[in-house]
Amino acid sequence: MAPGGRVEAARFRAAMSRFLSGVTVVSVFDRAAGRPHGLTVSAFLSVSLDPTLVLVSLAKDSRGLECIGQEGRFGVNILGEHQERLALHFARRSHVPVDPPFVERDGVPLLAGSLVHLVVRTVEIHPAGDHALCIGLVEDLEYEEGWPLAYFRSRFYRLVPQEVLDRIAGHFL
Ligand SMILES: Cc1cc2nc3c(=O)[nH]c(=O)nc-3n(C[C@H](O)[C@H](O)[C@H](O)COP(=O)(O)O)c2cc1C
Repeated sequence: MAPGGRVEAARFRAAMSRFLSGVTVVSVFDRAAGRPHGLTVSAFLSVSLDPTLVLVSLAKDSRGLECIGQEGRFGVNILGEHQERLALHFARRSHVPVDPPFVERDGVPLLAGSLVHLVVRTVEIHPAGDHALCIGLVEDLEYEEGWPLAYFRSRFYRLVPQEVLDRIAGHFL
């Protein structure tokens, strides 16, 4: 424990990495660059049904936050299990070149092949420590059947239902 009852950042990060999440890419048009911009985001939350609100928490110094502030609308792409390379690409951690499959819907860039597409209009941006909470109204959406990409302790996972594991275990007994 650090002095003054504050938790050290490294321990906080280690604890939070034990919270399993899905993976999204927030996509937004970058006017200065003249092309779509994306960033990988696990801090995504469904907030309200009426109205349909979602929240993403973005680093204050991220290019994505700057673009969202300028554009007023952005996309949220919930990644499917086959999109790990896109997750790495949009976290700037990719070692292999990736050509992101951007498509456009209602003027917002989205990633083809995602499990879910949300078209979001920004309604509030709240500063929160070294991040900002972007709350947005979901104006349109589409979703596919399939399985999500999962993230836990800095690694990507695919989900296997417990019943499938039980069946496999039963097969070897
Ligand atoms: C699995 C994963 C989840 C991430 N989640 C977030 C997040 O919730 N918020 C955030 O600001 N950055 C998150 N990042 C880091 C950003 O993707 C990364 O800093 C990105 O390069 C920011 O891009 P930009 O500054 O060009 O917009 C995450 C990275 C990974 C690999």
